[in-house]
Amino acid sequence: MKDFISLHDTTAEEVEALLKLALKLKDENKKGIEHHILKGKSLGMIFTKSSTRTRVSFEVGMTQLGGYPLFLSSNDIQLGRGETIYDTAKVLERFLDGIMIRTFAHQDVLDLAEYANIPVINALTDLLHPCQVLADLQTIYEHKGKLEGLKFAYIGDGNNMAHSIMYGCAKAGLDCAIAVPKAYSCDAEVVENAKDDFKKSGRTLILTEDPVEAIKGADVVYTDTWVSMGMEEEKEERRKVFMPYQVNKELFSHAKDDAIFMHCLPAYRGFEVTEDVIDGPNSVIFDEAENRLHAQKAVMATLMG
Ligand code: CP
Ligand code: NVA
Repeated sequence: MKDFISLHDTTAEEVEALLKLALKLKDENKKGIEHHILKGKSLGMIFTKSSTRTRVSFEVGMTQLGGYPLFLSSNDIQLGRGETIYDTAKVLERFLDGIMIRTFAHQDVLDLAEYANIPVINALTDLLHPCQVLADLQTIYEHKGKLEGLKFAYIGDGNNMAHSIMYGCAKAGLDCAIAVPKAYSCDAEVVENAKDDFKKSGRTLILTEDPVEAIKGADVVYTDTWVSMGMEEEKEERRKVFMPYQVNKELFSHAKDDAIFMHCLPAYRGFEVTEDVIDGPNSVIFDEAENRLHAQKAVMATLMG
């Protein structure tokens, strides 16, 4: 594994190894055991979109591993003024040991990884958010004691989270049901790739417009904002179309009694999820947020260690 860009390109064995390492690093972190696996190494963190969790978890994770994180806002670096991805990659590889990037176009991340002779980590594009799903799988494992055979239901927008969830479920052996309104369905190429992955895993992928069908008997219920970064102008329209997809107490009642509620955050209470669900006893959103730290430490240690 040179880069971590998509769970579709990551094998089931690699996902399992990353999760095992994440669980081990978390356990040892809680016991105060330090690992300076990345001593003397530097990670450049390019952000062309906002972030709370991703920025803080990568910075703290890199520091805990003994390395040095550099926050590179596109407002401040020459990339934001039109310097090419190629030149940026060739320059940064001379200074750094790895690059983490959050940006709009997925192709920019693929190009960066192709040109840079150092590991590149995808910290969210318009298409995918693999670091989030790795942390999500860790969280599900902690709460359910297993991954294989569980039913994962995603309700909402056919966005970067929906895409990475399909890929992640296939690799980790979960059944997956995605309920998305027709006009906001998932990317066709991602769906084809995911179908291939599910064929290989022997698990089921359900794509539906019916949230009740998706959530029925689910062990994990997941939603995300209806208005992703960069879509702010569509906010009013989206909020109308997506209302029947709100994860509220009634919809949640179709899941298993012990189902967990997950959300990558940031959340907008009263829209994609109601307070009684996200702040209720089945919600694991803050464990999920914490696991960004441990899962990404596993990714960095594996790629850069
Ligand atoms: N879930 C997530 O990626 O959060 P941030 O946008 O705050 O990084
Ligand atoms: N789908 C959201 C995820 C945020 C972590 C977005 O892209 O804005």
